[in-house]
Amino acid sequence: MTEPEAAYPHTMRLQRFLARAGVASRRGSENLMTAGRVTVNGQVASELGTKVDVDRDVVAVDGCRVELAAGPVYLMLNKPAGYLTTMSDPQGRPTVAELVPTSTYPGLFPVGRLDFDTTGLLLFTTDGDLGQALLHPSHHVDKTYVAHVDGRVTGKDLEPLCRGIVLDDGPCQPARCRVLKPGQALCVCPQGIPRGTSVVEVTIHEGRKNQVKRMLSAVGHPVLALHRPRFGSLRLGDLAPGAWRLLTAQEVDSLKQR
Ligand code: URA
Repeated sequence: MTEPEAAYPHTMRLQRFLARAGVASRRGSENLMTAGRVTVNGQVASELGTKVDVDRDVVAVDGCRVELAAGPVYLMLNKPAGYLTTMSDPQGRPTVAELVPTSTYPGLFPVGRLDFDTTGLLLFTTDGDLGQALLHPSHHVDKTYVAHVDGRVTGKDLEPLCRGIVLDDGPCQPARCRVLKPGQALCVCPQGIPRGTSVVEVTIHEGRKNQVKRMLSAVGHPVLALHRPRFGSLRLGDLAPGAWRLLTAQEVDSLKQR
């Protein structure tokens, strides 16, 4: 457990091992260690410098053995506003790569994109096949957005979107749309819906550039803020803005079955 890292290619810091095994974030794993809840080969390992040999050491949290999952990784990020959906930006602007554990999971990439100012569920994976499949037009999954828009929207205003409108890059498939009440709109209007504005939920199957913003502008209600709480079968739930978590095995299965 204490050999130098260079001598053992499969040696890594314990907090990294725990994060990679999906126990908690790197910081959360450090907290578990300092709380004395982590053992290596039966001995409490509270030193943050502790290293483990992935092939030989037995790591446990609260007495339960923790092992590294083999194979590809899938995680969701609650993207905050102000980040580009790219893994690097030549102009040095903030990117989502800063928010996900790229050193623990090299090869992570985002599946699809959210605009710089859009918040919500962004899926990442190292599984190139699944990523490509989900991005392919024939396999697109439903994506649900909550939009804070200018103006007072009625169900009637949304009818063209439900029928399928034509944008400048071609016709849109029919969307599912509804006007939300203040209690359903907290993700974009936590203080209540300001007078003269509305909040609508829009579910689309395609994934064209700025599609939801363009659709809502086309019916006379420009978007003021946009949030994605659902991507296919995945739900953001109470994941905090800027936080990520690994998908459960069930969530991965349901994505693959989509
Ligand atoms: N539609 C948009 O207009 N923007 C997004 O970020 C996602 C969907």
